Parts: sequence; C-alpha cells; structure tokens
Amino acid sequence: MPIRLAKKTGFCFGVKRAVTMAEAALKDRSAIYSLGSIIHNRQVVEGLSKRGLKVINDARLLKKGRLVIASHGISPKVAKAIAARGIKIIDATCPFVLNAQKIAKRLSGEGYEVVIIGDAGHPEVKALVDFAPKRVYVVKDEKEARELKLKKGHRVSVISQTTQSTENFLAVVGAILERKPKEIRIFNTICKDAEERQALAKELAGRVGLMLVVGGRDSANTRRLYEVCKKVLKNSHLIETEENLQRRWLKPGRSIGITSGASTPDWLVKRVVNRIRKELYN
Ligand code: F3S
Repeated sequence: MPIRLAKKTGFCFGVKRAVTMAEAALKDRSAIYSLGSIIHNRQVVEGLSKRGLKVINDARLLKKGRLVIASHGISPKVAKAIAARGIKIIDATCPFVLNAQKIAKRLSGEGYEVVIIGDAGHPEVKALVDFAPKRVYVVKDEKEARELKLKKGHRVSVISQTTQSTENFLAVVGAILERKPKEIRIFNTICKDAEERQALAKELAGRVGLMLVVGGRDSANTRRLYEVCKKVLKNSHLIETEENLQRRWLKPGRSIGITSGASTPDWLVKRVVNRIRKELYN
C-alpha cells in the first residue's frame, strides 16, 4: 500500500479540548452558542450544531444562554461585554493561545510596540490585537515588516500567531532587526504542535509523489501545512473531505503522503484513506 500517513494527524491538544468542552456543555439543556466556528472544520461544527450548538457571528445578538469560546480565543473587550449581560462563558481558548495573549498584554503594558506575525483577518490575531491596545502592528511576512512605520529608538517586541511557520517567523524577525531598534524582545509563540506538524509534513512531502493535506480551507494551520508541502512537492493538494479527491491524482505505483490540519478529526483522515484504497484497488 503506497499510502504514508504523517506521524501527526487528527486533532491537536487545543482543538480536542475545545470540542470536548463543547460536547460536555451540550449535555446540559440550556442554550449554548459559539461566536463564529468553535474550530475551523465545517464537518465537526455541523456535527456539534446538530446536537444543539448555535453559531452566531455578532456578539450583540447574544441575549441569554451560554457562550463557548473557540480554541483561537476572543477579544477581551467582547468577552467583558458578553459577561456583563449575565451570559455564562465557557472558556475553551487553547492554553497556548492564552499564553500568547498574556505576553501581548504584558509587553503592551510595559510600553513596547508589539508586532504580531500573522493573518490580520484571523480571529486569533484579531483577539491578540485587542490584548495589546497600544501601538500594535500585524505583519504577515518580511516584506510587510520592512514597510512598518517603526520610529528609530523605539522598543519593539515580536510575537506570533500560534500557527505560523518558523521559517516566516525567522524571516520577519530578521527584517525587524535590520531596522536596528533600540531594544527588541522576541517571543516565539508558535505552538509546538503546529511546528512539529509542519516539519513532519515537509519531510513526508519530500518522500512521496502525491501529498494530500486534509483540512478546512478556512483553517490557518491547514493552509500553512499546505504551503509548506507545496514548496517541497508541486503535486500537493488541500482537500476538505474524500469527496475532493481527484482520480487523476492517483496513479498506480505513485506513493501518497497524507497529513491533516490540527482541526481535522481522525475519522475524516480515515475516510480519505479508505476512498484512495477503493479507487486504487476496486
Ligand atoms: Fe492550540 Fe496549537 Fe492547537 S495553539 S489549538 S494546540 S495548533
């Protein structure tokens, strides 16, 4: 069988914890909500919705019930406003994201300019920005870091969205160092799971003829994995489910590597493996 699974697939610790907390809360009868998707995987969110989780996109619509905070966290301003309305908060923020939030808050309080490496539109980054309300910048790559309007003699700090690649982190830090800040504090807040997953996927992509990354298209860590694999092997594809598999990718004798994003459940990976077996051997 030419299928090789990456050593790390399925839910990461933080996602597993968030899903478990939501499932436990759903056993109770009172209404339970999440602000946006609790994790970035459509199939899992649909499953939880069938069991009673209501997904809303505007916190102001929440008048009663309980709110489970997603693994990628929430803005402290929004959380405060929700709690003030008497809504019970079940905080499923991943502890690694919480750590990045604490660092952002502390650095901002100590007067550092805070540079966050990440996707400005991602909920984790939006929340991080609100933890560092003074002089905070979001940059996605070294090009944006070079264009930052940092003043000479300023004290700068750098943190990262937890799912960024180490390569991008180092490139951005290098670009900021070139600006010769008076003082710089660097915190590598990339999650170990994300780092390991990327390293294992990269290694696997170098040994196979086709690489499949299973995960949600709106999942930052899945997209990052895909980018890492694509750099090593052109024949890498991001698929959400087995339905996205294309027959023309599967050639007899071609070895296939499979990895998954941190918010992809094991059962989805298994379904992809089973579909490949069926296509190749039936
Ligand atoms: Fe947490 Fe890392 Fe997963 S930050 S949600 S354990 S990818």
